[in-house]
Amino acid sequence: MRNINEDTITQAVIASFAKCENSRLRTIMTSLVQHLHAFARDVHLTEEEWFNAINFLTEVGHITDDKRQEFILLSDTLGLSMLVTSQNNRKPSNCTEATVFGPFFVEGAPIYNNGDDISNGATGAPCYVSGQVRGANGDAVPNAWLDVWQSDDEGFYDVQKPINASDNILQARGRLKTDAEGFFNFRSILAEAYPIPHDGPVGRMLAATGRHPWRPAHLHFMIAAPGYETLITHVFRDGDQYLDSDVVFGVRSTLIAEWVRHEPGVAPDGKLRETPWYSLNYDFVLNPAVVSA
Ligand code: BEZ
Ligand code: FE
Repeated sequence: MRNINEDTITQAVIASFAKCENSRLRTIMTSLVQHLHAFARDVHLTEEEWFNAINFLTEVGHITDDKRQEFILLSDTLGLSMLVTSQNNRKPSNCTEATVFGPFFVEGAPIYNNGDDISNGATGAPCYVSGQVRGANGDAVPNAWLDVWQSDDEGFYDVQKPINASDNILQARGRLKTDAEGFFNFRSILAEAYPIPHDGPVGRMLAATGRHPWRPAHLHFMIAAPGYETLITHVFRDGDQYLDSDVVFGVRSTLIAEWVRHEPGVAPDGKLRETPWYSLNYDFVLNPAVVSA
């Protein structure tokens, strides 16, 4: 293999995978090289631009640790996460659509009962959330596990706040189960729009390409029940100014719901609220799991 030139390099690299025993890996690497080379030819990548890209990816690596995943942010902001989510979560149209997972899920969040307040001190206007989980055939799904997580009124998740991290305090997130009829309800705080972390290389990429870093207000859900595909999704707040320009391309019209504003008065938990409070009612429809033979 000598005298490889710009016309023969792509085939030479692809041929170098011939002995790869993992056929899926060979397929992926072959396609990756084809597209990467086609891209470099298409834009006629200069050496300076190639080096800038290497520096950019190096910075993405340097800022990444167990709390901050800049590579996922990069994938999210380039639409790759949502593309992978969409093509792996095709479902009948009556099922609730999936959207991006995001970097702020925490395994083993506190367990709550229906009716509990999951905010655990997170700040924001009180919000009462309720709904039902059903299967695609309309049957209620009892004992489904719901994981819920959201940011506070300053746009931060608990895990982004150093004080919480040092004391291991989890706020505005929790796990609860649907009741015998598939219903759930909990108290939390009003979801607000927030910018994704943009003080690193991904933030600079957004600024350089004329993009903002904002996500529309949303509440994250992961819903798991035996016999059904696990659903990872959000409910988005109707009226939010970023619904049509979500920085991670995650909004689906079917996932937009109204957070109803209520004047001060008696809330669903029977407590007298002296400030306005909100309620959200949203039902989820799960896709039956494929039973493998
Ligand atoms: C989120 O919604 O939590 C999120 C998703 C993608 C990137 C950053 C945050
Ligand atoms: Fe989020």
